[in-house]
Amino acid sequence: FLSITLAVEKYLEPFRLSLEKLKEVSVRLKKDLIRGLGKHSHHRAAVKMLPTFVRATPDGTEKGDYLALDLGGTNFRVLYVRVVEEQQKVVKMDSKICSIPQEMMLGTGEQLFDHIAQCLGEFLESQDLKGQTLPLGFTFSFPCEQKEIDKSILIRWTKGFSCSGVEGQDVVKLLKEAIHRRGDYDIGSVAMVNDTVGTMMSCGYRDQSCEIGMIIGTGTNACYMEEIKNVKRVEGEDGRMCINTEWGGFGDDGSLKDILTEFDEVVDQTSINPGVHTFEKMISGMYLGEIVRLLLVKMAEDKLLFKGETSEALLTPGQFETKYISEIEDGLENAQKILTALGLNWDPVDACVVRLVCDTISSRSARLCAAALATISNRIRVNRGLDHLKTTVGVDGTVYRKHPNFSEELQAAVRLLAPKCDITFLVSEDGSGKGAAMVTAVAQTTCILPPSQQGATNPAAKKKKSVRT
Ligand code: GLC
Repeated sequence: FLSITLAVEKYLEPFRLSLEKLKEVSVRLKKDLIRGLGKHSHHRAAVKMLPTFVRATPDGTEKGDYLALDLGGTNFRVLYVRVVEEQQKVVKMDSKICSIPQEMMLGTGEQLFDHIAQCLGEFLESQDLKGQTLPLGFTFSFPCEQKEIDKSILIRWTKGFSCSGVEGQDVVKLLKEAIHRRGDYDIGSVAMVNDTVGTMMSCGYRDQSCEIGMIIGTGTNACYMEEIKNVKRVEGEDGRMCINTEWGGFGDDGSLKDILTEFDEVVDQTSINPGVHTFEKMISGMYLGEIVRLLLVKMAEDKLLFKGETSEALLTPGQFETKYISEIEDGLENAQKILTALGLNWDPVDACVVRLVCDTISSRSARLCAAALATISNRIRVNRGLDHLKTTVGVDGTVYRKHPNFSEELQAAVRLLAPKCDITFLVSEDGSGKGAAMVTAVAQTTCILPPSQQGATNPAAKKKKSVRT
């Protein structure tokens, strides 16, 4: 067993990132954040640092009824939510899930938005809400150049999407056009939200020191409250604005070459967007299973696993799902069941090796996220001239929530990488849906929307006296 472990270690070694390496990665990201914020450098920046026009986190006085749409993973969701001031809670009244078939993810934008409008229409019908024009928060979890809270241009698709005719277009306009093509209902003011922002905002209602939102799911990304004076693209000197970092794009300019493995290169080359979102491809749920699969194939071919045999399932891209990593790390019996289901001829040593491979890949993911989160919290600390920062990060995403020890590993590494930051992690259930409502609520009361739209469609929304920024 020892000799096998040693042989296996040769394959896994490139995935093991030392604390020193993680510190280097963190320093590189720090430079990229600055580049992304710069007036002239942001065009070429790998980390896009997108202004979100969210200038305030919730102050606990928001209320009202809202619709929320959530598009960004494999499903599309519509929610009807109520922000209840007395309980400082966002209550989901009801919701509906519509699946987005693979063909639609690669079809035309018009088909996609017609599908969304149809799903929303059916939901409104079922809730008897068709006559109302409720304000709507749209969580659209892709990199968008936001012009206003209700004008948001898709820069490029990420994750599994590649619909034609949407890149470079205003997503709010495409949604409204699709709704008007139907003509049987209408919506009120719209606030566009990235899922990281929704997550931060939904946690922000409960914990007002929540100033970072992080997603580790199908994709990975984070947002945080930056000083406006540092956001060179947006006018103004005072206050803060939430910045959607799009850290998934870190490394797209080659800055992570030294830590990429041959397996990462294959994952990138066989993805639908080669060269795009390098960091995300080392971390997120859409890709982790595939990295493990490629490693297992290679090790089997080199006769280190499964008596040198593979199986049809193991040889098929996408067949080793990321959720298997969590299950296998949770227990050897799971590993054995999964290997059997994949048609592999395994022995007990194989099962242990496979578990070690899964553990190595998920650890790398957690530690890379930790390096990135450390960079952001340190930035907030330095921005505010503090020696010590106490802050909260709202987190969501299946990898973070479902993996048996991902969160512990991430938190342990952040403590080492950002020793001057004391970070509380708050898992946000349903953040991207509820948070979109929260952004809409805050937008209605903090002058993010043009005055004509503020509170106009939602009499329940209360005007704020002061804005906490
Ligand atoms: C991808 C998207 C980003 C999103 C993240 C998590 O990285 O580009 O906008 O926040 O996935 O869903």
